[in-house]
Amino acid sequence: MFGAYGVRMVIGLALILAALPVAAWPGTEARLFKADPHMTKNHKIVIAHRGASGYLPEHTLPAYAMAYALGADYIEPDLVMTADHRLICLHDIHLESTTDVERQFPARKRADGRWYAADFTLDEIQQLNVTERTQPDGSRVFPGRFKADAQGFKVPTFDAVVEMVQSLNRETGRDVGLYPETKAPEFHDEEGLPIERTLLDQLAAYGYAGRDAKVYIQSFGFDNLREMREQMGSDLPMIQLISDAPAYDELVTPAGLATIAEYADGIGPDKRRIADTHGGLVKLAHAQGLKVHPYTFRADQLPAGTRRLEDELRRYYFQYGVDGLFTDFTDIAVEVIHPDYRPRLYPR
Ligand code: G3P
Ligand code: CA
Repeated sequence: MFGAYGVRMVIGLALILAALPVAAWPGTEARLFKADPHMTKNHKIVIAHRGASGYLPEHTLPAYAMAYALGADYIEPDLVMTADHRLICLHDIHLESTTDVERQFPARKRADGRWYAADFTLDEIQQLNVTERTQPDGSRVFPGRFKADAQGFKVPTFDAVVEMVQSLNRETGRDVGLYPETKAPEFHDEEGLPIERTLLDQLAAYGYAGRDAKVYIQSFGFDNLREMREQMGSDLPMIQLISDAPAYDELVTPAGLATIAEYADGIGPDKRRIADTHGGLVKLAHAQGLKVHPYTFRADQLPAGTRRLEDELRRYYFQYGVDGLFTDFTDIAVEVIHPDYRPRLYPR
């Protein structure tokens, strides 16, 4: 109907329109995501554990961006500090399990044979390539995930993640939050690295303030959150992490939960603590006004007797009644909470 020239014109116009920034479309902001059910207040939330780490190398900008696109409510960066006091996104205080530091800086290991992020400047760390997580023997932790010889994935700064999420929020009209974890607070104290103060200052600089801020600060530290709340004066939402180690047992008693409620807004327990109590821990925590966000839910690491991740997620969301959860597979959790929702970035 258009002829060859017309077809080229239409294709050219489509390419130009596709390249235009979202803000250039009339009425974009008003229409964006207003009808999305998972943007309503107080719904059960999906926390993108280390980004969309089921699909892309954990704690990289692509993994965070994919999680955003899949419909996460919160993006989870684990944080450690560099020698020059920069916050970077990394699960471990060591670098060798998720980067090629051993190849690039063979002489920089400590006497214990490990490479510490705290011994490297940000410039040095940004030379590293991030890979899928490996065991000490070099084997893959999750063999079915992204290819082992990935190139071009880098360790991001916390700044970069905040700016990416905030920019995407401006473009899409969504209000996706951040869920940063201060890793190994005692280690950082010993190294003279002020991870808590730096995190609070950066969050403040980016406009996160007050009880309604779209952020949760989380920590496994026993005094870490209380220090930020009481000594550093932060009123940002906070989540006390609770592992399955015996040292945490007293935190899941009624008295322990009442103590947590003095300084935190919720708990982030190992999911087995909820299954072991058949949901009893959720009720105890809710009785103290605490939210419950267990970890970690993985399609490729299911508990015995569970066939599909969605079955496990339904059990925790709807039978045990958790308020949110950490998952490597944001897409599956979003689908469980909002069966009719199809993740879409562009305006409808
Ligand atoms: O922070 C809660 C969740 O992420 C589980 O801990 O070890 O994966 O940081 P981890
Ligand atoms: Ca974490």
